[in-house]
Amino acid sequence: MADTPLSSKRMTTPAIEVCPSTDLVDGGLAHKLPVRHAGEATTAFFVRYEGRAYGYLNRCPHMGSPLDWEGHVFTRAGDQLMCARHGATFRPDTGECTGGPCQPSRLSALKVTEAGQAVLWWPEGKTEPA
Ligand code: FES
Repeated sequence: MADTPLSSKRMTTPAIEVCPSTDLVDGGLAHKLPVRHAGEATTAFFVRYEGRAYGYLNRCPHMGSPLDWEGHVFTRAGDQLMCARHGATFRPDTGECTGGPCQPSRLSALKVTEAGQAVLWWPEGKTEPA
């Protein structure tokens, strides 16, 4: 996705600045943010994969548990996201489940862009800032 300036008239919801772009390293630790989903307090996580920033609701489709373990969400190879509870794996770029107990399913993706050296989240749907 191309960079989108904060003042873009195409966007109707204000962007939330998640973190500096440099905080997300390819295949590295996730940046977590408190959010509300369907009125319930939870978290979202943001990662970088193949140079691009992605964000997901931090909720595994298997049992609804948080995906991460203290911010760790990538497999050792850094090519898949992996649930810390029972090892389900997901494509980092789409959230599609690729293995484990919750196939077929996918993570809930958030709309993410980068502009001005910052990672931006554009809340929509049932997920909103806490
Ligand atoms: S809660 Fe994620 S695989 Fe079971």
